[in-house]
Amino acid sequence: MRADGRPSGPQQPEQARVFFALWPDQRVRAGLHQAAVECARRFGGRATQPETLHLTLAFIGDVPVENLGMLKDAAAGVEAEAFGLTLDQLGYWGHNRILWAGSQHSETGLSRLVHGLAGRLQAAGQPTGLEPRRPFAPHITLVRKVVDQRPQLPELPPLNWDCREFALMRSRLSAHGAAYEMLERWSLS
Ligand code: 2AM
Repeated sequence: MRADGRPSGPQQPEQARVFFALWPDQRVRAGLHQAAVECARRFGGRATQPETLHLTLAFIGDVPVENLGMLKDAAAGVEAEAFGLTLDQLGYWGHNRILWAGSQHSETGLSRLVHGLAGRLQAAGQPTGLEPRRPFAPHITLVRKVVDQRPQLPELPPLNWDCREFALMRSRLSAHGAAYEMLERWSLS
């Protein structure tokens, strides 16, 4: 019964907006932040805060909080090795006005991790974040809401990133942007 005397409807389970991601170490983060600030200055837009710079492996979206255990169990079963990623490219997507950092070369270790994770999630009956119409495009968002529609992107001095762990993150959206909470992380063998 509700406070106003009417019967209450079915309770909606609490939802969490979650994604799996790689979080760069401090040195890589500093290099990316420098590029983000420089690009936001030149092309307009909002540079990502250094502590929130990340590479999404799988965007899961809203799930009931009670399913988080299943997501964690699936991630714990992923067998993937640590790998190196060279960030040496800036890119710009006009459709969402995002300026990003990425790699000119596809990295087998990253692809193994993404597909290993998707396989585990699928086997657990959970969303995988992989959709045929939205193929995995590894990127780190540096600037959002870029003003210049045709930015002449500078070169990104290569940053060598040692990827040794991945994490399950919870995102809470507000007027100030997204705040992230690390729910759990796993080492790559
Ligand atoms: P983006 O930086 O290109 O926006 C948390 O939202 C993370 O998940 C971000 O890195 C975001 O990428 C990524 N992501 C992937 N698919 C998404 C979707 N459909 N909605 C929101 N974020 C998504």
